[in-house]
Amino acid sequence: MAEVPRFLVAVTGASGAAYARRLVEALGKRAEVIISRDAEEVLQVELGIAASDLAGEAAAAYLDRDLAAAPASGSHPFEAMVVVPCSGTTLAKIAAGIADNLVTRAAAVALKEQRKLILVPRETPVSAIALENMLKLARLGVVILPASPGFYGAHDTVDDLVDFVVARILDHLGVRHALGPRWSGPPTA
Ligand SMILES: Cc1cc2nc3c(=O)[nH]c(=O)nc-3n(C[C@H](O)[C@H](O)[C@H](O)COP(=O)(O)O)c2cc1C
Repeated sequence: MAEVPRFLVAVTGASGAAYARRLVEALGKRAEVIISRDAEEVLQVELGIAASDLAGEAAAAYLDRDLAAAPASGSHPFEAMVVVPCSGTTLAKIAAGIADNLVTRAAAVALKEQRKLILVPRETPVSAIALENMLKLARLGVVILPASPGFYGAHDTVDDLVDFVVARILDHLGVRHALGPRWSGPPTA
């Protein structure tokens, strides 16, 4: 593995680009970013930014067309991969073992190399097909972490709710952070 732990952050064309932006910010140089073609569209629609803007301080940034890039190989060291947000399309491809772009190929690598894989699906309601795909992957040890913030903390803004989800991702990556308060029981009167 690399001396500095590296985390692959794959961004696909589901709603929720703000989650990806915040995670990449939090990981800084520990992140390597992969952006799908449809994610580029969503980044523009939701945040008004280009793929290159999302990469920020990340150690590397790739487009999903680049199947020759380093993360396509099992020899490329990374601690864990997060697909955030994860579209139903990418979820289905990963569950079916389809590796037709750099996002799905890197996920296939994470599975075959038994590295941590976290998917952050964003779709509602959820079809039986998507539920079956999630169940299949969860049984293989993949963390299914829906973009579903809790409302029990002192969350005042959309940014707080984004941080809630990103904090749970960082917890699963084992990365220390100070994003939002942790639950310590109901407030005392
Ligand atoms: C603005 C916008 C929002 C979208 N939101 C979602 C979404 O929340 N969930 C989802 O599964 N697909 C969503 N889609 C559809 C996906 O982009 C589409 O299924 C695409 O094939 C995903 O490809 P990718 O996984 O390679 O990025 C959205 C598309 C657009 C343009």
